[in-house]
Amino acid sequence: MTCASSCSKRVVRMSDSTVILPGTPAGIRRAAAALREGQLVAFPTETVYGLAADAGNAAAVNQVFAAKGRPAGHPLIIHLPAGTDLAKWSACRGTLAENKERLAAARALAAAFWPGPLTLILPRGERVLPEVTGGQPTVALRVPASPVAQALLQATELPLVGPSANRFGRISPTSAQHVLQELAGRIPFILDGGPSSVGLESTILDLSGTQPRILRPGFITPAQLEEVLQLPVAAGADVESPRVPGTLASHYAPVTPTRLLDAGAFERFVRSAGSRSGVISLQGRPAGFPGIWRQLPADSGGYARELYGALRELDETAEAIIVELPPAAACWDAVHDRLRRAAA
Ligand code: TXA
Ligand code: MG
Repeated sequence: MTCASSCSKRVVRMSDSTVILPGTPAGIRRAAAALREGQLVAFPTETVYGLAADAGNAAAVNQVFAAKGRPAGHPLIIHLPAGTDLAKWSACRGTLAENKERLAAARALAAAFWPGPLTLILPRGERVLPEVTGGQPTVALRVPASPVAQALLQATELPLVGPSANRFGRISPTSAQHVLQELAGRIPFILDGGPSSVGLESTILDLSGTQPRILRPGFITPAQLEEVLQLPVAAGADVESPRVPGTLASHYAPVTPTRLLDAGAFERFVRSAGSRSGVISLQGRPAGFPGIWRQLPADSGGYARELYGALRELDETAEAIIVELPPAAACWDAVHDRLRRAAA
């Protein structure tokens, strides 16, 4: 038997034990029943696919860490149905005035951006399991916009943890097929909601400290948050902030060596590239280029939507990945952030 045939058999057998459910009412009912039984289900959101488990079931939450190979102690986001009152899941310590302000700020942001690609970090409410928050005094809350995600949350009537449905440190999945590549044989179900419309993980805003702070840039920008809060928003995790795996330099990384090149270096590279190099560019493929070329949309939203799929494809087919740096404008910040991590 050749290596190729034995490898492909193994993949088929592993995939066989992971079932893809359609994002129909029947598929959603099946997924909800599995979650209520304490099983894991990968589910679609507008950002990336998540790996759901009942946030109130410690054994199920622990299985999420095992399936992803994620070190224990890295906190998970709790996903909630639209209309949930934040106060149910967060507690505010400190003076009464501070608490009121924090809750008012969170509610204003929720009203403006939920359901949507924004995660809020707040002091942890008593009902939140320590397994979910890695023992930290804060909790991450998000109300996803994807209709299939919302239907699943309504059907389970459970809060769901939902880290991105990839193995630890790898590229987040933006389709059911991507999840299968990552977790085949490790989880029983993937609920298919089609490709993710945003394509990059949610903006994470920490409201637990003295100043609102962005821990992970995303589709919702600092300017949008500042407009609602009427307060300046700090960027980047400070030394005292809790551990955020997404802020590790080498997170969201392809296995294949990946380099970012500015315009001049990119042009020089293109002239000398070999047939095993894979390129992600804003431009069309030049005549005679010998390698693999993926042109992504010139608008930041379109580019973000397709980026992880392109990285994933080139990770499998190319020996080196070269990315032409997109423009430096603010609307590209989240893309730049993920590209830097992919190349770290
Ligand atoms: O768009 C998203 O947020 C996706 C979809 C599935 O909702 N989820 C996602 O989850 O990206 P995950 O676990 O891959 O990334 C969540 C990040 C992690 O870096 C985690 O450390 C951080 O949020 N996080 C969670 N709880 C936190 C907390 N209490 N304090 C600080 N960071 C926290
Ligand atoms: Mg992740």
